[in-house]
Amino acid sequence: MDQASKKQAVAAAAVEQIREQLVRGAVIGVGTGSTANCFIDLLADHKGRFDAAVASSNATAARLEGHGIRVLDLNEAGSLAVYVDGADEVDVGLNLIKGGGGALTREKIVAAASENFVCIVDDSKCVDVLGAFPLPLEVIPMARELVMSGLRDFGGQPQVRAGFVTDNGNLIVDTKGLDLRDPPACERRLNDLVGVVCNGLFALRPADVLLIAGAAGVERRLRNRS
Ligand code: A5P
Repeated sequence: MDQASKKQAVAAAAVEQIREQLVRGAVIGVGTGSTANCFIDLLADHKGRFDAAVASSNATAARLEGHGIRVLDLNEAGSLAVYVDGADEVDVGLNLIKGGGGALTREKIVAAASENFVCIVDDSKCVDVLGAFPLPLEVIPMARELVMSGLRDFGGQPQVRAGFVTDNGNLIVDTKGLDLRDPPACERRLNDLVGVVCNGLFALRPADVLLIAGAAGVERRLRNRS
């Protein structure tokens, strides 16, 4: 099975996973990226069964609206029953690296507002230890050099993503070489750098359900909450 077919398969599995939550009054959190796009396109077949969606990016909002799905501001929606999104890397604890598409801040906000986070990936995203994928951070432009210096002090090799501005008007700094073996501690430490809006580690609020598409089909893993 090629990667595009795996994305389709895991998106279809996500629709099945949230089927019981697609009810009148429900507002669904929807992520960003190519896997999330497959999910949006399939969700469109069920648009009469739920009320609206909250989008984690302008691109996702446009795609949802293109299918005739109503998009709400999170402030109007309140807490969400479920959020479905992809990831760039995932470990056995369902900690994630996200932000390859630059939407990490809104993604983290929507994830935080959701009771259940369903992460959808193909098997190329699964790793033992996070960090082969350069960690994206959203950074206030005037703090660029300050933040990059702080990241170097942590052993990282930061690089500004060329020609990219986030939906919030900020920069993305992609950072190789960080030691991410303790994801929650790293997430807190990176949040403490002044000028960082958000970092792409999702460990303080990891995924609750992980759907992984591989050659043999879609595997479901649940986070151990104990
Ligand atoms: C967007 O900012 C990211 O967090 C995406 O969720 C992540 O990059 C996965 O994207 P793909 O599904 O396109 O691999």
